[in-house]
Amino acid sequence: MAKNRICELLGIKYPILQGGMVWISTTELAAAVCNAGGMGVLRGSQSKEQLAEDIETMRELTDKSFGVNIPLIDPLSQGVLEMVADKKVDVAITSAGNPAKFTGWLQEAGLKVMHVVPSVRMAQKAADAGVNAVVAEGYEAGGHNGVDEITTMALIPQVVDAIDVPVVAAGGLGDSRGLIAALALGAEGVQMGTRFIATKECVAHQNVKESILASSDTSTVITGRSHAPVRMLKNKLAEQILEREHAGAPHEELLEFIGSGRTKAALIEGNLDEGSLMAGQIAGLVREVKSVKEVIDELVNDASGVLSGISEKLDI
Ligand SMILES: Cc1cc2nc3c(=O)[nH]c(=O)nc-3n(C[C@H](O)[C@H](O)[C@H](O)COP(=O)(O)O)c2cc1C
Repeated sequence: MAKNRICELLGIKYPILQGGMVWISTTELAAAVCNAGGMGVLRGSQSKEQLAEDIETMRELTDKSFGVNIPLIDPLSQGVLEMVADKKVDVAITSAGNPAKFTGWLQEAGLKVMHVVPSVRMAQKAADAGVNAVVAEGYEAGGHNGVDEITTMALIPQVVDAIDVPVVAAGGLGDSRGLIAALALGAEGVQMGTRFIATKECVAHQNVKESILASSDTSTVITGRSHAPVRMLKNKLAEQILEREHAGAPHEELLEFIGSGRTKAALIEGNLDEGSLMAGQIAGLVREVKSVKEVIDELVNDASGVLSGISEKLDI
Protein backbone atom coordinates (compact mmCIF):
# COMPACT_ATOMS: atom_id res chain seq x y z
CA MET A 1 0.00 0.00 0.00
CA ALA A 2 1.31 3.44 -0.93
CA LYS A 3 1.97 5.55 2.16
CA ASN A 4 -0.48 8.39 2.03
CA ARG A 5 -3.64 9.32 3.87
CA ILE A 6 -5.99 8.44 1.00
CA CYS A 7 -4.66 4.88 0.70
CA GLU A 8 -4.76 4.48 4.47
CA LEU A 9 -8.27 5.93 4.78
CA LEU A 10 -9.75 3.84 1.99
CA GLY A 11 -7.59 0.74 2.42
CA ILE A 12 -6.50 0.76 -1.22
CA LYS A 13 -3.17 -0.04 -2.87
CA TYR A 14 -2.95 2.94 -5.24
CA PRO A 15 -4.47 6.39 -4.64
CA ILE A 16 -6.52 6.15 -7.83
CA LEU A 17 -10.31 6.52 -7.78
CA GLN A 18 -12.80 6.02 -10.57
CA GLY A 19 -15.33 8.82 -10.35
CA GLY A 20 -19.00 7.99 -9.97
CA MET A 21 -20.67 8.40 -13.37
CA VAL A 22 -24.40 8.43 -13.92
CA TRP A 23 -25.55 5.35 -15.92
CA ILE A 24 -22.06 3.99 -16.55
CA SER A 25 -20.21 3.44 -13.28
CA THR A 26 -21.70 -0.01 -12.94
CA THR A 27 -20.48 -3.00 -10.97
CA GLU A 28 -18.31 -4.22 -13.88
CA LEU A 29 -16.33 -0.99 -14.04
CA ALA A 30 -16.16 -0.33 -10.30
CA ALA A 31 -15.13 -3.91 -9.42
CA ALA A 32 -12.43 -3.89 -12.12
CA VAL A 33 -10.99 -0.71 -10.61
CA CYS A 34 -11.04 -2.21 -7.11
CA ASN A 35 -9.38 -5.42 -8.30
CA ALA A 36 -6.67 -3.44 -10.12
CA GLY A 37 -5.68 -1.67 -6.87
CA GLY A 38 -7.73 1.55 -7.06
CA MET A 39 -11.15 2.37 -5.68
CA GLY A 40 -14.22 1.82 -7.82
CA VAL A 41 -17.31 3.93 -7.23
CA LEU A 42 -20.86 2.86 -8.06
CA ARG A 43 -23.41 5.29 -9.46
CA GLY A 44 -25.92 6.20 -6.76
CA SER A 45 -28.42 7.87 -9.12
CA GLN A 46 -30.55 4.82 -9.77
CA SER A 47 -33.37 3.09 -7.98
CA LYS A 48 -32.64 2.18 -4.38
CA GLU A 49 -33.51 -1.45 -5.14
CA GLN A 50 -31.12 -1.65 -8.10
CA LEU A 51 -28.35 0.01 -6.11
CA ALA A 52 -28.89 -2.43 -3.23
CA GLU A 53 -28.50 -5.29 -5.72
CA ASP A 54 -25.39 -3.68 -7.18
CA ILE A 55 -23.84 -3.41 -3.72
CA GLU A 56 -24.37 -7.15 -3.20
CA THR A 57 -22.92 -7.88 -6.66
CA MET A 58 -19.85 -5.76 -5.83
CA ARG A 59 -19.27 -7.92 -2.76
CA GLU A 60 -19.24 -11.00 -5.00
CA LEU A 61 -16.91 -9.39 -7.55
CA THR A 62 -14.35 -7.93 -5.17
CA ASP A 63 -13.20 -8.19 -1.57
CA LYS A 64 -11.77 -4.66 -1.75
CA SER A 65 -13.37 -1.49 -0.46
CA PHE A 66 -15.57 0.46 -2.83
CA GLY A 67 -17.62 3.64 -2.85
CA VAL A 68 -21.07 4.82 -3.84
CA ASN A 69 -21.51 8.28 -5.36
CA ILE A 70 -24.60 10.10 -4.19
CA PRO A 71 -25.43 13.46 -5.79
CA LEU A 72 -27.31 15.20 -2.94
CA ILE A 73 -29.30 17.29 -5.42
CA ASP A 74 -31.20 14.13 -6.35
CA PRO A 75 -34.56 14.27 -4.51
CA LEU A 76 -34.25 10.55 -3.74
CA SER A 77 -30.78 10.88 -2.20
CA GLN A 78 -31.96 10.72 1.42
CA GLY A 79 -33.42 7.23 0.98
CA VAL A 80 -30.37 6.10 -0.98
CA LEU A 81 -28.06 7.33 1.78
CA GLU A 82 -30.06 5.45 4.40
CA MET A 83 -29.84 2.22 2.40
CA VAL A 84 -26.12 2.70 1.75
CA ALA A 85 -25.59 3.26 5.50
CA ASP A 86 -27.64 0.14 6.34
CA LYS A 87 -25.55 -1.90 3.96
CA LYS A 88 -22.38 -0.54 5.52
CA VAL A 89 -20.76 0.40 2.23
CA ASP A 90 -17.13 1.40 2.79
CA VAL A 91 -17.28 4.93 1.38
CA ALA A 92 -20.02 7.43 0.51
CA ILE A 93 -18.89 10.01 -2.02
CA THR A 94 -21.44 12.79 -1.95
CA SER A 95 -21.58 15.58 -4.51
CA ALA A 96 -23.76 18.49 -5.66
CA GLY A 97 -25.17 19.60 -2.32
CA ASN A 98 -24.45 20.35 1.31
CA PRO A 99 -22.70 17.49 3.13
CA ALA A 100 -23.37 18.92 6.62
CA LYS A 101 -26.72 17.18 6.95
CA PHE A 102 -25.46 13.67 6.25
CA THR A 103 -21.78 13.35 7.10
CA GLY A 104 -22.12 12.76 10.86
CA TRP A 105 -24.68 9.99 10.76
CA LEU A 106 -23.01 8.24 7.82
CA GLN A 107 -19.79 8.16 9.83
CA GLU A 108 -21.67 6.94 12.92
CA ALA A 109 -22.96 4.09 10.74
CA GLY A 110 -19.32 3.23 10.02
CA LEU A 111 -18.89 4.77 6.55
CA LYS A 112 -16.09 7.03 5.38
CA VAL A 113 -17.45 10.17 3.76
CA MET A 114 -15.89 12.10 0.90
CA HIS A 115 -17.45 15.13 -0.76
CA VAL A 116 -16.80 16.55 -4.24
CA VAL A 117 -16.04 20.30 -4.28
CA PRO A 118 -15.28 22.87 -7.03
CA SER A 119 -13.79 25.67 -4.88
CA VAL A 120 -11.88 26.46 -1.69
CA ARG A 121 -15.03 27.78 -0.01
CA MET A 122 -16.92 24.55 -0.65
CA ALA A 123 -13.88 22.52 0.48
CA GLN A 124 -13.87 24.44 3.76
CA LYS A 125 -17.59 23.81 4.21
CA ALA A 126 -17.05 20.09 3.60
CA ALA A 127 -14.12 20.03 6.05
CA ASP A 128 -16.26 21.86 8.63
CA ALA A 129 -18.96 19.22 8.10
CA GLY A 130 -16.34 16.66 9.17
CA VAL A 131 -15.81 14.74 5.91
CA ASN A 132 -12.90 12.29 5.85
CA ALA A 133 -11.57 13.64 2.55
CA VAL A 134 -12.58 15.91 -0.31
CA VAL A 135 -12.44 15.37 -4.05
CA ALA A 136 -11.51 18.76 -5.53
CA GLU A 137 -12.70 18.82 -9.12
CA GLY A 138 -11.44 21.34 -11.64
CA TYR A 139 -13.27 22.84 -14.60
CA GLU A 140 -11.63 20.46 -17.07
CA ALA A 141 -13.81 17.64 -15.75
CA GLY A 142 -16.55 15.92 -17.69
CA GLY A 143 -20.12 16.25 -16.45
CA HIS A 144 -21.49 18.82 -14.00
CA ASN A 145 -19.10 21.55 -13.06
CA GLY A 146 -18.65 24.46 -10.67
CA VAL A 147 -19.83 27.93 -11.72
CA ASP A 148 -16.53 29.61 -10.81
CA GLU A 149 -14.57 27.83 -13.57
CA ILE A 150 -11.51 27.04 -11.46
CA THR A 151 -9.06 24.71 -13.18
CA THR A 152 -7.52 21.71 -11.46
CA MET A 153 -4.07 23.34 -11.66
CA ALA A 154 -5.21 26.39 -9.68
CA LEU A 155 -7.74 24.64 -7.45
CA ILE A 156 -5.73 21.82 -5.91
CA PRO A 157 -2.90 23.73 -4.17
CA GLN A 158 -5.35 26.30 -2.83
CA VAL A 159 -7.66 23.63 -1.42
CA VAL A 160 -4.69 21.70 0.01
CA ASP A 161 -3.52 24.86 1.81
CA ALA A 162 -6.99 25.68 3.10
CA ILE A 163 -8.01 22.42 4.80
CA ASP A 164 -6.41 19.67 6.85
CA VAL A 165 -8.30 16.69 5.44
CA PRO A 166 -6.74 14.81 2.52
CA VAL A 167 -7.53 15.99 -1.00
CA VAL A 168 -8.15 13.89 -4.11
CA ALA A 169 -7.68 15.79 -7.39
CA ALA A 170 -10.15 15.37 -10.25
CA GLY A 171 -10.60 16.93 -13.66
CA GLY A 172 -8.26 16.66 -16.63
CA LEU A 173 -6.23 13.70 -15.35
CA GLY A 174 -5.66 10.81 -17.70
CA ASP A 175 -2.16 9.39 -17.43
CA SER A 176 0.83 9.21 -15.09
CA ARG A 177 1.85 12.78 -15.93
CA GLY A 178 -1.50 13.91 -14.55
CA LEU A 179 -1.11 11.64 -11.54
CA ILE A 180 2.33 13.06 -10.68
CA ALA A 181 1.20 16.64 -11.34
CA ALA A 182 -1.77 16.21 -8.98
CA LEU A 183 0.45 14.76 -6.27
CA ALA A 184 2.96 17.57 -6.83
CA LEU A 185 0.17 20.09 -6.25
CA GLY A 186 -0.45 18.48 -2.87
CA ALA A 187 -3.29 16.06 -3.61
CA GLU A 188 -2.95 12.60 -2.08
CA GLY A 189 -4.93 10.84 -4.76
CA VAL A 190 -6.62 11.26 -8.13
CA GLN A 191 -10.13 10.63 -9.41
CA MET A 192 -10.69 10.04 -13.11
CA GLY A 193 -13.91 9.77 -15.08
CA THR A 194 -13.32 10.33 -18.78
CA ARG A 195 -10.30 7.97 -19.02
CA PHE A 196 -12.35 5.17 -17.48
CA ILE A 197 -15.17 5.55 -20.03
CA ALA A 198 -12.81 4.31 -22.73
CA THR A 199 -12.22 0.97 -21.05
CA LYS A 200 -13.36 -2.52 -21.95
CA GLU A 201 -15.31 -2.86 -18.69
CA CYS A 202 -17.29 0.36 -19.10
CA VAL A 203 -20.86 -0.17 -20.36
CA ALA A 204 -20.90 3.14 -22.25
CA HIS A 205 -22.09 2.69 -25.85
CA GLN A 206 -19.38 1.97 -28.41
CA ASN A 207 -20.28 5.27 -30.16
CA VAL A 208 -19.33 7.15 -27.00
CA LYS A 209 -16.00 5.35 -26.69
CA GLU A 210 -15.25 6.06 -30.35
CA SER A 211 -16.19 9.73 -29.90
CA ILE A 212 -13.72 10.00 -27.04
CA LEU A 213 -10.97 8.33 -29.09
CA ALA A 214 -11.68 10.78 -31.95
CA SER A 215 -11.58 13.83 -29.64
CA SER A 216 -9.00 16.58 -29.55
CA ASP A 217 -8.28 19.19 -26.89
CA THR A 218 -11.04 21.41 -28.28
CA SER A 219 -13.75 18.76 -28.53
CA THR A 220 -15.64 19.63 -25.34
CA VAL A 221 -17.75 22.62 -24.46
CA ILE A 222 -19.55 23.92 -21.38
CA THR A 223 -23.30 24.27 -21.62
CA GLY A 224 -25.49 25.93 -18.99
CA ARG A 225 -22.57 28.16 -18.02
CA SER A 226 -24.44 30.59 -15.79
CA HIS A 227 -26.68 28.19 -13.87
CA ALA A 228 -25.72 24.56 -14.12
CA PRO A 229 -22.55 24.09 -16.16
CA VAL A 230 -22.07 20.73 -17.84
CA ARG A 231 -18.99 19.76 -19.85
CA MET A 232 -19.84 17.58 -22.83
CA LEU A 233 -18.50 16.68 -26.24
CA LYS A 234 -19.56 19.15 -28.93
CA ASN A 235 -22.51 17.73 -30.82
CA LYS A 236 -25.86 18.83 -32.22
CA LEU A 237 -27.45 18.98 -28.76
CA ALA A 238 -24.60 21.11 -27.36
CA GLU A 239 -24.94 23.48 -30.35
CA GLN A 240 -28.69 23.79 -29.84
CA ILE A 241 -28.29 24.53 -26.13
CA LEU A 242 -25.57 27.13 -26.79
CA GLU A 243 -27.63 28.83 -29.50
CA ARG A 244 -30.50 29.21 -27.05
CA GLU A 245 -28.18 30.43 -24.30
CA HIS A 246 -26.61 33.02 -26.59
CA ALA A 247 -30.08 34.19 -27.55
CA GLY A 248 -30.72 34.82 -23.84
CA ALA A 249 -33.14 31.99 -23.17
CA PRO A 250 -34.04 31.78 -19.48
CA HIS A 251 -32.84 28.78 -17.49
CA GLU A 252 -36.34 27.26 -17.25
CA GLU A 253 -36.68 27.34 -21.04
CA LEU A 254 -33.33 25.60 -21.43
CA LEU A 255 -34.32 22.94 -18.94
CA GLU A 256 -37.56 22.40 -20.79
CA PHE A 257 -35.71 22.08 -24.11
CA ILE A 258 -33.19 19.62 -22.69
CA GLY A 259 -35.94 17.59 -21.03
CA SER A 260 -35.03 14.26 -19.46
CA GLY A 261 -33.29 11.18 -20.75
CA ARG A 262 -30.52 12.96 -22.69
CA THR A 263 -27.66 11.44 -20.71
CA LYS A 264 -28.95 7.91 -21.07
CA ALA A 265 -29.60 8.56 -24.77
CA ALA A 266 -25.92 9.39 -25.22
CA LEU A 267 -24.11 7.11 -22.80
CA ILE A 268 -26.21 3.96 -23.12
CA GLU A 269 -28.04 4.28 -26.44
CA GLY A 270 -25.17 5.92 -28.29
CA ASN A 271 -27.28 8.77 -29.69
CA LEU A 272 -24.49 11.12 -30.72
CA ASP A 273 -26.74 13.94 -31.98
CA GLU A 274 -29.50 14.23 -29.42
CA GLY A 275 -27.79 12.88 -26.30
CA SER A 276 -25.74 14.66 -23.65
CA LEU A 277 -22.25 13.25 -24.29
CA MET A 278 -20.62 14.21 -21.00
CA ALA A 279 -16.82 13.99 -21.12
CA GLY A 280 -13.85 16.04 -19.97
CA GLN A 281 -11.11 17.97 -21.76
CA ILE A 282 -8.70 15.08 -21.25
CA ALA A 283 -10.70 13.12 -23.85
CA GLY A 284 -8.20 14.44 -26.41
CA LEU A 285 -5.46 12.42 -24.72
CA VAL A 286 -7.32 9.12 -24.80
CA ARG A 287 -6.28 7.14 -27.86
CA GLU A 288 -7.19 3.56 -27.09
CA VAL A 289 -9.84 1.52 -25.35
CA LYS A 290 -7.94 -0.49 -22.74
CA SER A 291 -8.81 -2.75 -19.85
CA VAL A 292 -9.11 -1.03 -16.49
CA LYS A 293 -6.08 -3.00 -15.28
CA GLU A 294 -4.00 -1.71 -18.20
CA VAL A 295 -5.03 1.87 -17.43
CA ILE A 296 -4.14 1.57 -13.75
CA ASP A 297 -0.93 -0.41 -14.32
CA GLU A 298 0.25 2.23 -16.80
CA LEU A 299 -0.57 5.06 -14.42
CA VAL A 300 1.57 3.45 -11.76
CA ASN A 301 4.35 1.96 -13.90
CA ASP A 302 5.00 5.13 -15.91
CA ALA A 303 5.14 7.32 -12.82
CA SER A 304 8.80 6.73 -12.00
CA GLY A 305 9.80 7.71 -15.57
CA VAL A 306 7.84 10.95 -15.17
CA LEU A 307 9.58 11.64 -11.87
CA SER A 308 13.07 11.00 -13.21
CA GLY A 309 12.26 13.20 -16.22
CA ILE A 310 11.43 16.01 -13.81
CA SER A 311 14.71 15.51 -11.92
CA GLU A 312 16.63 15.71 -15.19
CA LYS A 313 14.82 18.86 -16.34
CA LEU A 314 15.59 20.57 -13.06
CA ASP A 315 19.01 18.96 -12.65
CA ILE A 316 18.17 17.97 -9.08
C1 LIG B 1 -20.17 10.76 -18.20
C2 LIG B 1 -19.88 11.33 -16.84
C3 LIG B 1 -20.83 11.21 -15.83
C4 LIG B 1 -20.56 11.73 -14.55
N1 LIG B 1 -21.49 11.57 -13.57
C5 LIG B 1 -21.22 12.01 -12.30
C6 LIG B 1 -22.15 11.80 -11.24
O1 LIG B 1 -23.21 11.21 -11.42
N2 LIG B 1 -21.81 12.26 -10.00
C7 LIG B 1 -20.62 12.90 -9.75
O2 LIG B 1 -20.34 13.28 -8.61
N3 LIG B 1 -19.72 13.11 -10.75
C8 LIG B 1 -19.99 12.67 -12.00
N4 LIG B 1 -19.05 12.84 -13.00
C9 LIG B 1 -17.72 13.38 -12.66
C10 LIG B 1 -16.72 12.23 -12.39
O3 LIG B 1 -17.06 11.52 -11.23
C11 LIG B 1 -15.27 12.73 -12.25
O4 LIG B 1 -15.11 13.53 -11.10
C12 LIG B 1 -14.82 13.52 -13.47
O5 LIG B 1 -15.13 12.80 -14.64
C13 LIG B 1 -13.32 13.77 -13.39
O6 LIG B 1 -12.87 14.53 -14.48
P1 LIG B 1 -12.38 13.88 -15.88
O7 LIG B 1 -13.63 13.64 -16.65
O8 LIG B 1 -11.53 14.94 -16.46
O9 LIG B 1 -11.62 12.62 -15.56
C14 LIG B 1 -19.32 12.37 -14.29
C15 LIG B 1 -18.38 12.48 -15.32
C16 LIG B 1 -18.65 11.98 -16.58
C17 LIG B 1 -17.59 12.10 -17.65
